[in-house]
Amino acid sequence: MTAAQIDTDKLMAFVFRAVDEVGATLNTALVRMGDQLGYYRDLASHGPTTSAELASRTGTPEPYAREWLNAQAAGRIVEYDPADGRYSLPPEHAVALTDETSPAYLPGFFQIALGTVHDTDRVVQAARAGTGVGWHEHDADVHVGCERFFRPGYAANLVSGWLPALDGVVDMLTAGARVADVGCGHGASTVLMAQAFPRSRFVGSDLHAASIETARARAAEAGVADRVVFETVPAQQLGDARYQLITMFDCLHDMGDPVGAARAVRAALEPDGTWMVVEPAAGDAVEDNLTPLGRAYYGFSALLCTPASLSQPVGAALGTQAGPARIREVVSQAGFTRFRVAASTPFNTVFEIRP
Ligand SMILES: C[S@@+](CC[C@H](N)C(=O)[O-])C[C@H]1O[C@@H](n2cnc3c(N)ncnc32)[C@H](O)[C@@H]1O
Repeated sequence: MTAAQIDTDKLMAFVFRAVDEVGATLNTALVRMGDQLGYYRDLASHGPTTSAELASRTGTPEPYAREWLNAQAAGRIVEYDPADGRYSLPPEHAVALTDETSPAYLPGFFQIALGTVHDTDRVVQAARAGTGVGWHEHDADVHVGCERFFRPGYAANLVSGWLPALDGVVDMLTAGARVADVGCGHGASTVLMAQAFPRSRFVGSDLHAASIETARARAAEAGVADRVVFETVPAQQLGDARYQLITMFDCLHDMGDPVGAARAVRAALEPDGTWMVVEPAAGDAVEDNLTPLGRAYYGFSALLCTPASLSQPVGAALGTQAGPARIREVVSQAGFTRFRVAASTPFNTVFEIRP
């Protein structure tokens, strides 16, 4: 293409869009800074603040507080009043940035993004070599960020919305059932279910031994270790026990062999049992997912979930945006005959799958 064919307005519009993109990339680290240094919590608990006041209350040098505040103001995260030189965090932003119990809580989302970006070179090397990058090979921000990102959504929806959307499952759990939470990571979902249903017994499992160690600690802290066991095993090898409910939260697409995992679930599920699969919200066609959320999910897919799947035998690489039709195909290959979308949120789709 010659210079004469270039639309310079379009070129410059693209360049200026990139300025915003770079600002957003840096903001991932600025959110971490605000979270770790206590800047957001300080702004949330005080009114309009100067950079000197923020610096003094958080014990950090004023230039850090000042430049961070200015970056946050330019990013419309805090508001700046030039009349008095004070910065304030709107109450809604304060909830999203400081309240770990809110489903809108955001620092975990940024943390998993930061950890993911940190490991880019590893992914580049793997792509060149035609291999994958296992979940265990990632920076701890990926593991901790994953828990901090997903937990608030599970806390808001799992017991109050998702389990009741499954036919007969709450009654069964209330009476006492055997449950396997496969690919449980740090066990956020396992612990929430164990707290809600004290008569049921839970086995959380994951391929990643360090995550299982953390999950055990989380269960002990929550006082549910008497009814939860955690094991380091792959989803394709669930053992001889039988379960009335098997759950998978945001992990089927990470697995190398999702059909093999589905077959293992089929074998481990009681004939009248239920398999609940929670996956990132997605449409079936690429064009359905070309949205801001799809962009973030495809980003995680390319850098985190797809390399994880490719690091395992089979390497099916479903991707985070597989969509209901592809998930249905996977479970059908394992002999499941009943499949429906039981619930959905802007971020997740919940599938009810039965033999
Ligand atoms: C995105 S994390 C989700 C963790 C957890 N379910 C949650 O919602 O917080 C995906 C998890 O799947 C696990 N995983 C990937 N492949 C697996 C496999 N074949 N068998 C068991 N776990 C697997 C990873 O180790 C990781 O903990």
